Amino acid sequence: MRVNSIKDLDINAGDRVFVRCDFNVPIDEFGNITDDRRIREALPTIKYLLDIEAKIILASHMGRPKGEVNPKYSLKPVAKRLSHLLHQDVILANDVVGDDAKIKANSLKDGEILLLENLRFDKRETKDDEELAKKLADMAEVYINDAFGVSHRAHASVCEITKHINSFAGKQLLEEVNVIKMLTNNAKKPTTCIIGGSKISTKSGILINLIKKMQNIVIVGAMANTFIKHKGYNIGHSIFEKNQENLIDDIIEESKKNNCNLVLPEDVITSKDHNSKGVLKSLDQINDNDLILDIGEKTLQNIIKVIDESKTILWNGPAGYFEIDEFSVGSKKISMKISENTKTKSLVSIAGGGDTVAAINKFKCSNGFTYLSTAGGAFLELLEGKALPGIKALEINE
Ligand code: 3PG
Repeated sequence: MRVNSIKDLDINAGDRVFVRCDFNVPIDEFGNITDDRRIREALPTIKYLLDIEAKIILASHMGRPKGEVNPKYSLKPVAKRLSHLLHQDVILANDVVGDDAKIKANSLKDGEILLLENLRFDKRETKDDEELAKKLADMAEVYINDAFGVSHRAHASVCEITKHINSFAGKQLLEEVNVIKMLTNNAKKPTTCIIGGSKISTKSGILINLIKKMQNIVIVGAMANTFIKHKGYNIGHSIFEKNQENLIDDIIEESKKNNCNLVLPEDVITSKDHNSKGVLKSLDQINDNDLILDIGEKTLQNIIKVIDESKTILWNGPAGYFEIDEFSVGSKKISMKISENTKTKSLVSIAGGGDTVAAINKFKCSNGFTYLSTAGGAFLELLEGKALPGIKALEINE
């Protein structure tokens, strides 16, 4: 089974193409986009269509406005940024499938671009509604899903729409899927996954799936706290997840069964609160008032050794509270080491997840990684081995 790809697309100047993008970008209190990577990642597909002089209709969600029109979630800043990046006007419709969108879509000239307003202003979008999907499909002759980040959602503009129009996968979506396939199926060994975040339960599927495929799993961040507590150490008032004993036992057992080296913190940086100085402690020194906010020096050295021995690395989840410099050392050094080895030792390095990519950007290492995924949930679900509904919808039998 393969997905219908943009490479199979046969269109001419003047054809109408509907492109589902993921322009769900962070916007600050003044309405400025603070990270436009998701917009820039959509450019290859858009430029390809511009070269053909297609009439391009772009659509995306932004945030979770729950079916209500809310100016806070308008795609206006996205239209502005796209116009700037493409050096051409991007017309913004004031609605999704209302009169304004219809009139503007119908009057598009060859090589012009229309961006519909936030799809989630229409409550039918998140319900995978047939009526909305048909109206979106009616706007064009061809549909392209270039929104890998939302492919884990069975929404009208992602799934149902593909039943009513010729549908293809865009360049960005194909690239993301191919990177994850390479990572889980034919990555150069030894392979290592560095995984952090706060909840084991949300990433247990990934851990169990990757333990079978990877040689090393390094657990950091707040997720490691639950493991440290499980070992019987006091973790003070650090974040941890309750009732995870069975899951942790399963992870430990699976890692032994599959000969996967599980690397856990041996020392940590603690503090009384986020504003105080960090103190290096071994696990048996942590007391009731402590908050674990980063990994310690010995743990860092263990991780650096693992990175040095690896040929492929996947990183998802920072090592500590990297937003505060005092507790950013673990994430910074991991980021710098991966970046250095990618450049000098042909390490293949892939990172994904909003926080991880934000950390990599903060340490100015983004050019040192082989691939940074723009996706959050979709990236994790694909790593877990799940079938994503938006990708399934593009599959063809051959
Ligand atoms: C994301 O940011 O992960 C995607 O845009 C999907 O957004 P959602 O979690 O609100 O569906």
